Amino acid sequence: MKFKVFKYDKVNSTNIVSHNLAKNGQNNFIVMANTQTDGKGRLNRSWASEEGGLYLSIVLDISKFEEIAHSNFIASLSVLTTLKEFSSSFNTSDDINYSIKWPNDILLNNCKICGILSELNIKENYIVIGIGVNLNNSLGNIDNDCSYKAISLNQMFENTEKEQIDKNLFLTRLLSNFTNYLTMNSDDLINNYKLNSETLNKNVKIILKDSELTGKVVNIDFNGLYLDTNSDLGIKLIEVGDCIHLR
Ligand code: BTN
Repeated sequence: MKFKVFKYDKVNSTNIVSHNLAKNGQNNFIVMANTQTDGKGRLNRSWASEEGGLYLSIVLDISKFEEIAHSNFIASLSVLTTLKEFSSSFNTSDDINYSIKWPNDILLNNCKICGILSELNIKENYIVIGIGVNLNNSLGNIDNDCSYKAISLNQMFENTEKEQIDKNLFLTRLLSNFTNYLTMNSDDLINNYKLNSETLNKNVKIILKDSELTGKVVNIDFNGLYLDTNSDLGIKLIEVGDCIHLR
């Protein structure tokens, strides 16, 4: 799939810019910025958007792309695959493990390296998939077990200034992987996601709007996460919520 690319130095949020462009008739495009002044995260959080990170929104026309429920899975797997491709080019003896924390955080050795915020506009027939990847930005001190705190690729591999990760190359690979996953059938897509899931089979705490649930994650599909509550509630389908992995 060919995407028209809109590149900016500084925006409030690539998601906000995307909504404006889509409402003005653009479709199948991407918006990229070097920094954001009002980066948006899931559940009304903000997303730190210093220079060096990748801040990107992909906008799809959903009258042509019907599998809307697939979009988060496609985006997560595209970022994960691209990160794996890049890491393999570093000479490192460290054990590097990429995984997906439900619904769509990408973790590098349990540290968050990417977050995804999808926003659907059914009335106007489009979806904005906002992707933030910590590439060359610095996120403060890290230790070996950063337990879901943020990390950047550059920090992980202790790159020097001269060895910045090439954001344009990363974007090219990401869009190519995204296009491949877009055409993948549902079974392969979900199986691929589950193979890379950090959350499946874990004991977790789910934070809902007004309550919390704990239990073991027994399955994940396009509808959400299936939590065995080990109580009268039985297995609960969780469609949206914050997920905390328990040890
Ligand atoms: C999260 O994990 O909470 C989701 C973070 C999503 C951040 C990206 S950065 C590019 C795009 N524009 C935004 O304002 N947010 C998303």
